[in-house]
Amino acid sequence: MAQYELPQNFFFGAAMSGPQTEGGWNTGGKLENLWDTWSNEDISSFYNRVGSYVGNDFMHHYKEDLALLKDLGLDSYRTSIQWSRLIDQDGNINPEGAAWYHELFRASREAGLEVFVNLYHFDMPTYLFRRGGWQNREVCEAYANYAAKAFEEFGQEIRYWFTFNEPIVEPEQRYWHGVWYPRHHNFQEACEVQYNISIAHALAVSRYRELYRAGKIREDARIGMICNFSPSYTKDDPSEADLEALRMNDGLTNRWWLDLVTRGKLPADVIKTLVDDLGIVLPQRPYDEAVLAGGVVDWIGCNYYQPSRVQAPSKTHDEWGNPLFAEPYIWPERVMNESRGWEIYPKGIYDFGMKCKNEYPELEWFVSENGIGIEREYLNKDPETQQVMDDYRIDFVRDHLTWVARAIADGARCVGYHYWGLIDNWSWANAFKNRYGFVEVDLMENYERRPKKSATWLKQVAETHVVA
Ligand code: BG6
Repeated sequence: MAQYELPQNFFFGAAMSGPQTEGGWNTGGKLENLWDTWSNEDISSFYNRVGSYVGNDFMHHYKEDLALLKDLGLDSYRTSIQWSRLIDQDGNINPEGAAWYHELFRASREAGLEVFVNLYHFDMPTYLFRRGGWQNREVCEAYANYAAKAFEEFGQEIRYWFTFNEPIVEPEQRYWHGVWYPRHHNFQEACEVQYNISIAHALAVSRYRELYRAGKIREDARIGMICNFSPSYTKDDPSEADLEALRMNDGLTNRWWLDLVTRGKLPADVIKTLVDDLGIVLPQRPYDEAVLAGGVVDWIGCNYYQPSRVQAPSKTHDEWGNPLFAEPYIWPERVMNESRGWEIYPKGIYDFGMKCKNEYPELEWFVSENGIGIEREYLNKDPETQQVMDDYRIDFVRDHLTWVARAIADGARCVGYHYWGLIDNWSWANAFKNRYGFVEVDLMENYERRPKKSATWLKQVAETHVVA
């Protein structure tokens, strides 16, 4: 087997989020967020009726988890501050929430781990949702206020800040495709939300720059955004209509954010299609161009799980009257992770690297999430040791890292890799159905942590930077 080597200064770590790990959903002054509200209102929407309440019990296991990360040879991890924990209903710091994050960051430093802090991971506080959520411009301003408070509170501790994780997901899942609470099927609303999240991002970056200039943030800090950039593909021999499907699919999900974070603009062709051709009303205000111009960041994270394959749609609108831009294209050679229903296509990360190199050559990036969630992993246990034998996880990560190494060799500015869910965690409505970790969490034994077979492999790669 060919060996690939990653640069020695390439960082290795893991990604997680506050709402999926912390637990303590109603302790220490934490307010309800939409996951808590959905759990309270309709627990049957969650796999095995496991709601948002406990995460993977990280608040009780964090010291052990940080030691595990370190022991596996990792140098960094990302988590998110929960808006509903850090800020009270009046927009001020909740001291108990702040104390928890100070303690977590202190313990991480002590463990020798760099913490990457994201400010929003699909976790809108419910009282703000009741005031319109991302459809309301005042909520964008409340978010910028929250971000500024976080920068001030932790500005001397944290080096790497991110405004949003996968900002496309809420417009799509909550407002357009009806998957997540409040389960709307309204493309007009989804566009409002997508536009306003872009504004919120830009406002937060501007606040960051002001505070940085005022010396409130450490000098070596950087700010970025994390997106699920799924490279878009269509058929090998596409028609005009297939290419048009590709343009809008790529435009809404990828170029929208790439243009915002590198140029401080939204892609003109996409806006034209939305506004002029489809009559979508965006909540634009005078001077928004100047606001969006503030959204340029220092680097980005790319979450990569699967490619996006599309073709021309067979009809123009769906059953709710929303426009249809594309239909899924089933590539004849596709390999699937059947548990999650996602295609496995490691070369996609290489293609993303080349897209950045060619279209956004100054942009530095890292793989901010990549991983494989498998259902019923307990069936794969070694009968004697009871260890999960997850060779498929080793294959998955090896194949992706190989393409990362090839991308770097071909000029991609990729500087690190974070695996998603090093320790099994709560996956939104899927709860604990699909397990992502290199480390198992036993829900029947007080959330006990147990390394899987893949953990030994990961340690070797993280320590040597040789992918074999
Ligand atoms: C990413 C998210 O989209 O994928 C994570 O940032 C999420 O929050 C991960 O958990 C895996 O997806 P899922 O739905 O299987 O948990």
